[in-house]
Amino acid sequence: MTVPPSEHAGPETDLLPPPGCPAHAAATGPDGTTRLYGPTAATDPMGLYEKLRAAHGTVAPVLLDGDVRAWLVLGYTENRDVATRATQYSRDPRVWHGWRSGEIDPATSPLIPMIGWRPDCVCADGEDHQRLRGAVTAGLDQFDHRGLRRHITRFAHQLIDGFCESGESELVNQFTEHLPMLTLIHLLGMSDESGPELVHAARDLFKATETSLASNAFVLKALEELVVTKRSRPGHDIASALLAHPAGLTDEEVMHHLRLILLAGYETTANLMSNVLRMVVTDHRFRGSLAGGQMTLPEAVEQVLWDEPPLMVCPGRWANGDTTLGGQQIKAGDMLLLGLAAGNVDETIRPDPATPVHHNRAHLSFSAGSHECPGQDIGRIIADTGIDILLTRLPDIALAVPEEELSWRSSTWARHLTALPVRFAPRQPRAQDLPAPLPAPPTQSSGMPAPGLWPETAPPVPEQRPAAAPASWWARLRRLLSRR
Ligand code: HEM
Repeated sequence: MTVPPSEHAGPETDLLPPPGCPAHAAATGPDGTTRLYGPTAATDPMGLYEKLRAAHGTVAPVLLDGDVRAWLVLGYTENRDVATRATQYSRDPRVWHGWRSGEIDPATSPLIPMIGWRPDCVCADGEDHQRLRGAVTAGLDQFDHRGLRRHITRFAHQLIDGFCESGESELVNQFTEHLPMLTLIHLLGMSDESGPELVHAARDLFKATETSLASNAFVLKALEELVVTKRSRPGHDIASALLAHPAGLTDEEVMHHLRLILLAGYETTANLMSNVLRMVVTDHRFRGSLAGGQMTLPEAVEQVLWDEPPLMVCPGRWANGDTTLGGQQIKAGDMLLLGLAAGNVDETIRPDPATPVHHNRAHLSFSAGSHECPGQDIGRIIADTGIDILLTRLPDIALAVPEEELSWRSSTWARHLTALPVRFAPRQPRAQDLPAPLPAPPTQSSGMPAPGLWPETAPPVPEQRPAAAPASWWARLRRLLSRR
């Protein structure tokens, strides 16, 4: 890979701390190349992208953990180029020259979960990718949106019932990290009863705690058991769809894809929900636009996808041959990272980032090309439905701490709000008011049920509220705001 030597670092030297400054060692590698990890990158990633853009243009050399070299793509068009030109840029990490040059120690590098090869559709190109991805999309597309909303509605009410009487909640821990996981576990085909333990283990797995390894083993075992169960007793769920798909996935491939769906769908959706709710409780203009009807909730979600992508940097693509991108000489085997957050604020497509992007879904937050996120509709529905129900039930929700006290956990790839404490007037739980519990997915089936989430087997259940009519809480919120 061609990385400019430090003497050619150009304007970047003006933009980063001077040598001798304690922050300098952390911000750059020995040759002056910017590190995309460490305190500087973690504190202000968007600021760092802008410095890199000013110094290098649309494609910048960067260092990953362990000072591993890569190119960060910052331009909107260049990101689309890399994501869509599958013959030029491979998704298979084995193309990387770093494995052969010893640039990384696969046994110890923390990059392995993000750039290591696995037998799943993320790491495949061409026909291999089509085969695996076809099974994944068949698994995800079998759920109709109305049925999906009913289940998310049920989970959201259960979670809110758990804290509504107290008049306070920490929404990341009690809501936004739970709802996507409960939904995904359910869609995969696991029983709701296994929910709490699995939710705990699967959330722990992502947090790199002392117990993460044990949690990972617990989740893998649960997925292994799921595959065995669904082989003999298929249901209307993702595991059964993967097993039944004509692509003929092996049990191991099915396992890897179930884990992938959990990994790819959980943190991203939880992040998106946290980011939208943070905007609601901290930004009066944002909340006012929602309350005043100038912005619908789906539009608010899309705005946040533009401004704060749940995955800020997406690993990775590897150059199949020498090429030029954004004026940089890319060598065969070089690693490229899609700078989704940087691309979304590229001034060539968004001259004024403050201008609302209503109705415009052309952001990069779900990437582009053949690997574009196949679960984006599910992610959007979980976020829209969950937030709508929360704000319907607790329209007076307000931040319980000064905004400056909010903190984030950051990595090269993403930024997570660690806590969102809120308060509101205490209210009675309402689970007991529900006409009837919604059915669990059938564990036994003579064949695949009809479209919808188990509508054929479910008794008709009145909707808790119409899925696409957020008027009631807007009206209440509007009343509340007008009293201020
Ligand atoms: C707001 C939520 C979500 C965001 C922002 C998001 C974003 C992304 C991104 C950026 C990629 C990488 C594409 C690439 O490499 O070019 C991806 C891939 C993927 N996502 Fe999502 N995702 C979300 C939710 C979900 C959900 C809910 C699921 C499953 C139910 C899911 C399943 C997947 C899968 C299976 C892939 C790999 C696709 C492939 O390589 O062909 N995602 N997602």
